[in-house]
Amino acid sequence: MHVLDVIAKKRDGGELSKEEIEFFIQGYTQDEIPDYQAAAWLMALFLQGMNDRETYDLTMAMAHSGDMLDISAMEPSSDAGEPPLVVDKHSTGGVGDKVSLVLAPLVAACGVPMAKMTGRGLGFTGGTVDKLESIPGYRTDLSVDEFKAQVRDIGIVLTGQTADLAPADRKLYALRDTTATVESIPLIVSSIMSKKLASGADAIVLDVKVGSGAFMDTMEEAEALAHGLVRLGTQADREVVALISDMNQPLGWAVGNALEVREAIDTLHGSGSQGFREHCLTVAAEILQLSGRVESLNAALTLAMETLSSGAAWQKFRELVEAQDGDVTYVDDPQKLPQASIVEPVPAPQSGYLAGVNAAEVGLAVVDLGGGREEKGEPIDHSVGVVVHHKVGDLIQEGTPLFTAHANDRETLEEARERILAAYSFSDEPVQPLPLFYRRVTSG
Ligand code: URA
Repeated sequence: MHVLDVIAKKRDGGELSKEEIEFFIQGYTQDEIPDYQAAAWLMALFLQGMNDRETYDLTMAMAHSGDMLDISAMEPSSDAGEPPLVVDKHSTGGVGDKVSLVLAPLVAACGVPMAKMTGRGLGFTGGTVDKLESIPGYRTDLSVDEFKAQVRDIGIVLTGQTADLAPADRKLYALRDTTATVESIPLIVSSIMSKKLASGADAIVLDVKVGSGAFMDTMEEAEALAHGLVRLGTQADREVVALISDMNQPLGWAVGNALEVREAIDTLHGSGSQGFREHCLTVAAEILQLSGRVESLNAALTLAMETLSSGAAWQKFRELVEAQDGDVTYVDDPQKLPQASIVEPVPAPQSGYLAGVNAAEVGLAVVDLGGGREEKGEPIDHSVGVVVHHKVGDLIQEGTPLFTAHANDRETLEEARERILAAYSFSDEPVQPLPLFYRRVTSG
């Protein structure tokens, strides 16, 4: 087989065989195919698309390019009877999206093991690994053996992706990022699902964000992605549900690493933003039902609500922090978490109904403050960020606090303040609040 023939076949609109796809992925992962040929191939895939069979073969080839973890057969130390399915959740990325910090302990406290490898933030979207690293000592570099032992012992893991998990995706994603080939549904589906399949989950809930602070800014694109993800998961014999959720304003109140950990802790203690809490409970209910732990979505929601209000989810979060060497005194007393030196409320410039908050702009303002990164590998400041005080639809009086900026120097604070103020729009007429979720996509 020749690399040029495989590139030319796709360039001319042909359908690639499983062997051709495997040949390309193996060759590229092992550095036998150079970046310039992989870039040409990606652009051909981007322009010509791939059918479901090709997307499936690409996903499997990428998943098998490294370790395939088998955690499903392991019995957790719960008394739930049959070993439950191991579940996972993936969000396509958003602003203020700290769902995993609440969801994972909540689901695990309901007796369903949640073993999750998660990422760092890039661009305007935050990453769970960065948020967790606000807790001194918390390790996000567990080995595969530690990952497996922890899910067996306490039924929960939240760690960074190991280097050997879907290495083909790591290389291809970096190349896509620099060759304008990110926004392709088959490429996104294979990238996300290869990592999920390799990390060993039996049941996966996909939180597909749509809106100004999401990868997909139209419902049409979000639906195409959600359907593509669900079809792929079903082909791979996994239980999969996709929820299309709103990202036209930040999720919850806080955006920024330590601030989001604090909000997650508040939520685990039963306070925090009502919308964020409801978001976590809805996703948890889907996961519990997919896992077979409960029979209906209603029963799943009731179990999730009880587990959150009993404090069991909070105790599981503490257990997680302790297991991964985090200093629990910081989560017991969240005031100890990194705090910015300047905390300044910014007043509303006018009265009116809040009509919109461009979430990507808020995310980028937090990057400007030092709380995110533009390039992979850049250090970040965990203490900075923004806390918004209103949701779309709220009636706001001029001069009352609109948001609070947390910064470590005045110049960046002023820039962030202007950027965030410009992200807000107001209306004299009443505005409907935004829904949390738009659609539920299942295989049925
Ligand atoms: N997230 C991923 O993991 N991969 C993509 O291609 C896009 C978003």
